[in-house]
Amino acid sequence: MRENSGSRNSNSSYEENVENEDALSMDAESSSSTPRKPSPPKVVANRYRLGKLLGSGSYSDVHFATDKVTGDGVAVKLEWKRAEKTNKLIGEVDFYEDVQNVVGIPRVHWSGSKGEYNIMVLDLLGPSLDNYFKKRKRFSLKTVVMLGRQMIERLEHVHDCGVLYRDIKPHNFVMGRGEKGCGRVHLVDFGLCKRYRDEKTGTHCKMRHSKGRGVTGTVRYSSINIHEGYDASRRDDLLALGYVFLHLLRGDLPWLGLKAKNKKAKHELIRKKKIETSDEELCAGWPQEFVQYFKHCKSLDFYDRPDYVTLRGLLDSALVRSGQFNDGQYDWTSMECQTRSHGERSDSKDSKETVAETLDTGRKRKHGK
Ligand SMILES: Nc1ncnc2c1ncn2[C@@H]1O[C@H](COP(=O)(O)OP(=O)(O)O)[C@@H](O)[C@H]1O
Ligand SMILES: [Mg+2]
Repeated sequence: MRENSGSRNSNSSYEENVENEDALSMDAESSSSTPRKPSPPKVVANRYRLGKLLGSGSYSDVHFATDKVTGDGVAVKLEWKRAEKTNKLIGEVDFYEDVQNVVGIPRVHWSGSKGEYNIMVLDLLGPSLDNYFKKRKRFSLKTVVMLGRQMIERLEHVHDCGVLYRDIKPHNFVMGRGEKGCGRVHLVDFGLCKRYRDEKTGTHCKMRHSKGRGVTGTVRYSSINIHEGYDASRRDDLLALGYVFLHLLRGDLPWLGLKAKNKKAKHELIRKKKIETSDEELCAGWPQEFVQYFKHCKSLDFYDRPDYVTLRGLLDSALVRSGQFNDGQYDWTSMECQTRSHGERSDSKDSKETVAETLDTGRKRKHGK
């Protein structure tokens, strides 16, 4: 159900949404001059009672909430309307809805506004890859491969819906909950998405280039094309994903921690370092399939459809050659499954799993749109 539905945000309004560590620190600096953020509502849509904070991004807070009707947990994403980039969440709801009804994308239960907040109610998920990465500092090859092939599947689906994701980072990949769900990677945060096909004709948008424009997305994972001012296309989501894989495996990237006098200079240093670092150097010590992954993505033209099957096959091959197999056991699997980690009722039925199974069978969700 949606209340106070807004029209789709124009793509251009997202163009300069630079989301990165620098943007975050600037937000923090400017916060003293902005009004104080009010407390979030206690109850949303007369139905969802807000609980503890699950996570925060650049523009929003995500809270645990209890659905008073079913007793189940849900996630509530809140954007303070008076924050610098307003009403981003309303556009995000549209993109969420465009890519719904598939395993690995949370369902939107409700969206609307209350007081000073734009709000969206979503399926409740578990910890993000960033949560795990912060604790573990590195992931094993097996974990990266098991995650990676699902991450490629998510992007394939989003791309096949005519949408570019443009905000690849570990924070935006979130594990599910429950016995089966906790092995499943979900894609969240459609706030920087953009359509690359005309909705009526299906024509791919034309490539534009504008030197010196800001980077959309997270700079550390941005492809060189984006640094150089080209519009993003499907290849750039997959290149960013490649950088995420290597970050998770290595625990670092050669361009992290570079110091510069301002944001522009820092981005330039990062761009140069990315160009200087060969794929072989970046992937040294890891299966050569990762080099091939980058080679494939870099061989793609702006308009090309990536070969998602081949990319997943490369990950599978890397795992097989290392003498391991995809047994569903992540580095953290021995830790307590996420079910109770977000403070929900431990006796609650695994409703999310039921949802996932429903989606598996292809049944369409009824949406009050
Ligand atoms: N459905 C969800 N269930 C549980 N946690 C979530 C859910 N959606 C997001 N989160 C957590 O909240 C964080 C911020 O959400 P996100 O949608 O990425 O916000 P932003 O657009 O501000 O970056 C995520 O990194 C994740 O840790
Ligand atoms: Mg996010």
